[in-house]
Amino acid sequence: MKKLIMILIASWVSSAAATQNPIASVASPEETLGVNVYLSSNGEPSYNVVYKGKDLVADSRLGFELKNQPALTSGFKVVAAKKSRFDETWEQPWGEERFIRNHYNQLRITLREVFGAKRKLDVVFRVYDDGVGFRYEFPEQDSLTTIEILHELTQFNMTADHTAWWTPGQAGNQYEYLYQKTPISKMGLVHTPVTLQTNEGLFVALHEAALHNYSTMNVTGGADGKINATLVPTSKHQPIAVKLTAPAVTPWRTLQVEESAANLVTNYLTLNLNEPNKLGDVSWIKPAKYVGVWWELHLEKTSWKSGPTHGATTANTKKYIDFAAKHGFAGVLVEGWNLGWDGEWWKPGGGNNFNFYTPTPDFDVKELSRYAAEKGVYIIGHHETGAAIENYESQLDDAFKFLNQNGMKAVKTGYVETGEELVNGLYHHGQYYVNHAQRVIDIAAQYKVAVVAHETVKDTGERRTYPNIISREVARGQEYDAWSVDGGNPPNHTAIIPFTRLLSGPMDFTPGAFELTLPSRPKNQVNTTLAKQLALYVVIYSPVQMASDLPEHYEQHLDAFQFIKDVAVDWETTRALGGEIGEYAAIARKDRHSDNWFIGALTNEKARSLQLKLDFLDTGKKYTARIYQDGKTAHYATNPGSYEIREIEVTRGDELVLPLSPGGGAAISLIAK
Ligand code: NOJ
Repeated sequence: MKKLIMILIASWVSSAAATQNPIASVASPEETLGVNVYLSSNGEPSYNVVYKGKDLVADSRLGFELKNQPALTSGFKVVAAKKSRFDETWEQPWGEERFIRNHYNQLRITLREVFGAKRKLDVVFRVYDDGVGFRYEFPEQDSLTTIEILHELTQFNMTADHTAWWTPGQAGNQYEYLYQKTPISKMGLVHTPVTLQTNEGLFVALHEAALHNYSTMNVTGGADGKINATLVPTSKHQPIAVKLTAPAVTPWRTLQVEESAANLVTNYLTLNLNEPNKLGDVSWIKPAKYVGVWWELHLEKTSWKSGPTHGATTANTKKYIDFAAKHGFAGVLVEGWNLGWDGEWWKPGGGNNFNFYTPTPDFDVKELSRYAAEKGVYIIGHHETGAAIENYESQLDDAFKFLNQNGMKAVKTGYVETGEELVNGLYHHGQYYVNHAQRVIDIAAQYKVAVVAHETVKDTGERRTYPNIISREVARGQEYDAWSVDGGNPPNHTAIIPFTRLLSGPMDFTPGAFELTLPSRPKNQVNTTLAKQLALYVVIYSPVQMASDLPEHYEQHLDAFQFIKDVAVDWETTRALGGEIGEYAAIARKDRHSDNWFIGALTNEKARSLQLKLDFLDTGKKYTARIYQDGKTAHYATNPGSYEIREIEVTRGDELVLPLSPGGGAAISLIAK
């Protein structure tokens, strides 16, 4: 063992961590980050993380508390510590970046209890230059076949009480909250990703990757920057969080580490830690823009329920199909098309009335799918379940066959429930729901349908393995502006989520409101300028983007609508040009199918002027920059609709100055000549 220790201790091990010798260490390829693993005299495993020679995560516990078994926390010896390297570049079938390098050094620690049942546990660390992932693996063994995890005891003990941006975990409204900024010690139980800023100005996003057959990990902040993993239990009365049969692995626990908030935007650690595509040919999954019978429902101009106000009628759907065909949108979402909306579907058990293959009599699905196909458009199906999962599962096959037979290439799913984050009495983000979500992805793939999931569990990069889980909501989307009693999303919301929620994956935010004052909702308005609505198409990544407003509102501003028509949804590459969490964000992306670039820049409630260097543009190319910016008197509260459009010629040597009004933004199409 002594010899092994000598070989494995690398030069960058920090003095702070070295009160005890690590049993093994591993550094990232450029030695930016490193992990040391320790075993105390009682055989308790722990780890720390070092960034450029300084502790980032102090000594932190590893292990589990189990039901009917002693805890897996101590009494271990190290059987092996194996290192390996990995370096490959893989291609996303669709995404914000076409080619992603997966370059890490791995350390696998094989532990075995010295006495008793001599149970085995592996801990695998993957150390990248921009982050660390680690997971537990339970090898096949006679003494541990069924594993019932009460608590995962993993700690992420930060070295100080850093600043954190977070939303509360298990607080009654899933992931749909405004972000809060406090020290770690004040955050309590929170969802991940939780983004931290250290006193030295490092940015760290704590999250997980490849969440399969396991419960969601929330985390709890404690004194002095200590953080504990906190698994979502099965239910209020059932404390077991996870049941596994060995061999089994946990999701990866991830720390993305960058020297600026902007760099977090292009950190692809969680994708890299997911398995490659398991669906084979996925050319049938197409990024797309869509419109639909949706915002008018939230504005209460029409209703989901049947009767004289019903929105999902054949005539109204045809209106949207015509609009989509005229302006080049691929999809038309229709909500309220099926049986089940007439009762209190959002209350416990109310979702049991939903039927996912029987349209209302005034929705002629055969005629509409024929009409849509004739116009080169497809209908996007909608499965609101009211969180009645058993009802949904009992119809899954029929439901997806129905979509497939009617040419519906995508479906939006929904799990609205009221109260305590329960689905069928079980916690919404526990192992039961995680496995349900996977069953939906699997059957959707079988019928060649892409899934856009609302009120689902957070994204942990599964799209790499199952590219048909194409987008999710899982945060406060734009719909809150229509009806939220707190007045909707404040202007800083969209300046926070690029550095928090969006680190987990694409978001179906549904931007594109042009009528911002919402006359039919006198207590609410959309708290952005019109130009900021355009910026959201670039800042908020999603391969499916809705133009959410009503056709008649777009018809009034066809010049500004041109940006939504032009903007791409599938990207060759992404550059974060700048950003501060909660203040502003500026992102450029290059279209995967042309030489055009698009920029989105937005601010919180403060006006600011952003100077952007265009040095990311292709060498030797000239572009026509069409700039959609706030009008001189634009203001999200008092004059949201004021915008200006100007056009200039630019090359990569140029700089642009963008004036952003309070709650404003700017969007730029850079069309290659
Ligand atoms: C909540 C979803 O986020 C929203 O988009 C949908 O319209 C409603 N549920 C009804 O399903």
